Amino acid sequence: QAIHLKDYAPPPYLIDTVDLAFDLGEDVTRVQSKLAMRSNPALAPASATGGGPLVLDGQDMRLVSVALDGRALDPSEYSVGPDSLTLPNPPADFILEIVTELRPQENTSLSGLYRTSGNFCTQCEAEGFRKITYFLDRPDVMARYRTTITADAMRYPVMLSNGNLVAASKMEADGRHTVSWEDPFAKPSYLFALVAGVLVHIEDTHVTKSGRTVALRIYVEPGNQDKCDHAMASLKKSMTWDEEVYGLEYDLDIFMIVAVGDFNMGAMENKGLNVFNTKYVLAKPETATDTDFLGVEAVVAHEYFHNWTGNRVTCRDWFQLSLKEGLTVFRDQEFSSDMHSRPVKRIADVQRLRAAQFPEDSGPMAHPIRPDSYIEINNFYTTTVYEKGAEVVRMIHTLLGADGFRKGMDLYFQRHDGQAVTCDDFVAAMADATSVDLGQFRRWYSQAGTPELDVTGAHDAAARTYRLTVRQSCPPTPGQPVKQPFHIPLALGLLDPSGADMPLRLAGEAAPAGTSRVLDVMEAEQVFDFVDVAEAPVPSLLRGFSAPVKLRFPHGVDDLTFLMANDSDAFNRWEAGQTLATRLMLDLVADRAAGRPLELSPGFIAAFGKILKDPTLDPAFAAQALTLPSEGYLGQQMPVIDVDGIHEVRAFCRRAIATALRDDLIATHRALGGNEPFAIDAAAIGRRSLKNLALGYLMALEESGREGTEAVELCVGQFHNAHAMTDVIAALGCLADTDLPQREVALRRFYDLWKDEPLVVDKWFSIQAMSERPGTLEEVKALLGHPAFEIRNPNKVYALIGGFAGGNPVRFHDIGGGGYRFLADQVLTLNALNPQVASRMVKMFARWRKYDPRRQALMRAELERIVQTPGLSRDVFEIASKSLEGA
Ligand code: ARG
Ligand code: ZN
Repeated sequence: QAIHLKDYAPPPYLIDTVDLAFDLGEDVTRVQSKLAMRSNPALAPASATGGGPLVLDGQDMRLVSVALDGRALDPSEYSVGPDSLTLPNPPADFILEIVTELRPQENTSLSGLYRTSGNFCTQCEAEGFRKITYFLDRPDVMARYRTTITADAMRYPVMLSNGNLVAASKMEADGRHTVSWEDPFAKPSYLFALVAGVLVHIEDTHVTKSGRTVALRIYVEPGNQDKCDHAMASLKKSMTWDEEVYGLEYDLDIFMIVAVGDFNMGAMENKGLNVFNTKYVLAKPETATDTDFLGVEAVVAHEYFHNWTGNRVTCRDWFQLSLKEGLTVFRDQEFSSDMHSRPVKRIADVQRLRAAQFPEDSGPMAHPIRPDSYIEINNFYTTTVYEKGAEVVRMIHTLLGADGFRKGMDLYFQRHDGQAVTCDDFVAAMADATSVDLGQFRRWYSQAGTPELDVTGAHDAAARTYRLTVRQSCPPTPGQPVKQPFHIPLALGLLDPSGADMPLRLAGEAAPAGTSRVLDVMEAEQVFDFVDVAEAPVPSLLRGFSAPVKLRFPHGVDDLTFLMANDSDAFNRWEAGQTLATRLMLDLVADRAAGRPLELSPGFIAAFGKILKDPTLDPAFAAQALTLPSEGYLGQQMPVIDVDGIHEVRAFCRRAIATALRDDLIATHRALGGNEPFAIDAAAIGRRSLKNLALGYLMALEESGREGTEAVELCVGQFHNAHAMTDVIAALGCLADTDLPQREVALRRFYDLWKDEPLVVDKWFSIQAMSERPGTLEEVKALLGHPAFEIRNPNKVYALIGGFAGGNPVRFHDIGGGGYRFLADQVLTLNALNPQVASRMVKMFARWRKYDPRRQALMRAELERIVQTPGLSRDVFEIASKSLEGA
């Protein structure tokens, strides 16, 4: 059942051109496909009789007819299986014509051709094209496409596909019209797209550096035109950035984005016709939070950047997915850093990596960024392939430097433009362009698991030396009991007692080389001797999070406080505070378990107070520094996750901080409050995040359980008066955790105001799903029956079911097991409708072994119930069965 990288074989046949004709109907959609095919010349020996059997992928369709070189084939001349069409021995060069019929209105998987809000739309990555027509549905088969679409002109006035519009008919007597699109670039089938329906668009232009004018269009459902400006501005910035940083220009005359309400993922980079989840297009201050605005900018950039890293150079096979995804995430992260604050972006990305990727890397689904095998490829669009993949590219950038990295990218495109290649090809281009040896570095592509670095330091005052000893190890992961050492770039500095960075000179070097530098950690154990070190330094290690590892160094509390205040590396100033908070909070969890009273260190509270009151700090950075480690992150640091202990301790700490700093928090909220004119720049976002952080602490005060107190008044006032959704949601989120009468009032008012904006209603669902109140599970169950809830819509599922199971640890993991039963029931319902969405939900059980025996047994029982259900999709089966492996 599993597919293995080692079994890769080139395709026996190639497809040069594809002519598609779609006849879109309310009942049946007919697809005619005409393929110009030949046997693969790379496979010797080419014989006159062709390349042996031709096996085309195809599923969930009705095959109408097959013709070869103009001759209709008799059904005895081919065979059809549940996912294939086989021609036993076609010639070396031929035209294949296939007609299929589909029922897109019944396609709830949202893969292939499906309907959304009455429109037609496609999603073909990874293997959706095979639900449209029989094809060699694999990325190393690249063809030039021409697409003709015919449909009712009233219902489908807009009909789009990849490339340039080459023909359009007027309405015919039967009320139908026809358009043709041609894409001059050869592409794999996963980049095919078609959209048809009632859509409106906004338009702009971009003139490339070399002077080409490109038309830019964003298509949305009528009524949403007023929420497209931010996406358009983001697109234009992305195009300029890619020209400036990588010299990469857009290559067609038109670039289109279509926003659809039903979409499994964030967005899709189809050539010239990106299809987006509305969540990553529609944004205006009244309906979208700052996080949403930043998400739109990042995803628009991500999909645009794929035009070169993904489309012009694509993947040979799906094991190479990180070739395009890791690289493109790295590119979109760098773009966002350049648009906003680099340290703030880096902190957010590392938090995300730790919250999602580290757990994946230490659980039953752990896999290298280039997996060795899969049962269902859609299960491998993971945070490991994407975010750890981006970290691996970032390490290459660190090792080569910005100029070296650019040289490597240039060589990569020079060698591989128009090809379907591998991760090895990418690393080879990087190494060849710079003569940097990346031999050992390649292990990052093949070994799973998060490496651990144990570092110690020893100062010799008499010899004026400082010795760092670095040990690396990596825990076993499924199928990989033993790991070879990684090549780890360890960025560091040494702080002298005044807090300044010392010049860094390693033994054997003639002179110091800077005050922050990157050490190459290559061995299981390695020492680095620094000379001319008069006084014992405080090391600042893994600056900027230079590698995706877990680092341990025996810093004392004083050292951490010192780093928090003095480190020239902003990321490590934040990190020192987080390390300190983590340590104190885990001690409190132990105190609570032992029945000891809880007390939060006054020194720690004082350090928080200093940050809060420091006028020189960037408010966005201050907000990150004043945020305690999440419950999830704290749980990861424990051998057995103490769900209730962690929740209680975190709430206790928030209350203790709020109580001690009450006046300062109120002052901060007041100073940053008011309705300043809305702007979406880094400074304005930062002010809102610090203001809302202050509000959150104030609502953690004891007194905030009662009506009429100052904090409650602030919160309720903000909810009713704020113009920006960021501020409204911050206040509503606080109220949702309380039993105040204003809670119901606010939730009802919010819904009444926004019931016609699906993306805002999603926020309303998730806020309720994430409430820490004891009755949340029952409320979530009731909300499944709310008229605005729709289980076929992925955004609704992610908001309500995902919000509960993924964003509410204390209620999901309730010891009664009701949360687990609920999630399993939803997984089974979704399994029959949309396996990709179901599989994302079942992943929430994957970490069951990290909990106490009681919870383990409950989760395991649900997983077993799921695996034993007949008719399970491959998607859900793979996750559930791998989660249970060895149990
Ligand atoms: N390539 C898209 C992106 O990263 C995601 C497509 C996800 N598709 C899937 N079947 N999981 O921008
Ligand atoms: Zn992508």
